[in-house]
Amino acid sequence: MKRAGVLTLSDKGASGLRRDESGPVVCGALTAMGIAVESYEVIPDDMETIVNRLKALCDELGLDLVVTTGGTGLTPRDVTPEATLAVIHRRVPGMEEAMRMESMKKTPHAMISRAVVGTRDRTLIVNLPGSPKAARECLEVIAPALGHALDKLGGDTSDCGA
Ligand code: MTE
Repeated sequence: MKRAGVLTLSDKGASGLRRDESGPVVCGALTAMGIAVESYEVIPDDMETIVNRLKALCDELGLDLVVTTGGTGLTPRDVTPEATLAVIHRRVPGMEEAMRMESMKKTPHAMISRAVVGTRDRTLIVNLPGSPKAARECLEVIAPALGHALDKLGGDTSDCGA
């Protein structure tokens, strides 16, 4: 069974000013996909904090997948894409593009999200936007390719489509 961590990036959520709804939505969706959620945290939109948590989830817990929600937009405190770019080794632009392309069919505001997808060693890191609706919609877009992506990242060298 693949193992995942969910990280909600929200100043209000971390300080208790807002109840995090997106994290539980993402946890539920991953569980429904047969992925074990082993870690769930709400942390502030702080570059250093996010970088440290991402590294710990990848390097110490050795998770297959880390999904973040929030902080992908344009407010001055939105730094999730920058933190993700600082820790990944390889970018997966197709997953980023697919999320934005499909999301723009639902709302033009989707073009504001700067969400990044990439790999750090054998962990796939996926940024999702912050609202529960947006997070669910974006996860649904990449869901059909997620299992294959995690298998390949985990070292499956079998021929694709065989
Ligand atoms: N993507 C989808 N699928 N559905 C949405 O409703 N909302 C957008 C966008 N992506 C949205 C979406 C909005 S309003 C914003 S501001 C950006 O995601 C960034 O959100 P974030 O800063 O909470 O990460």
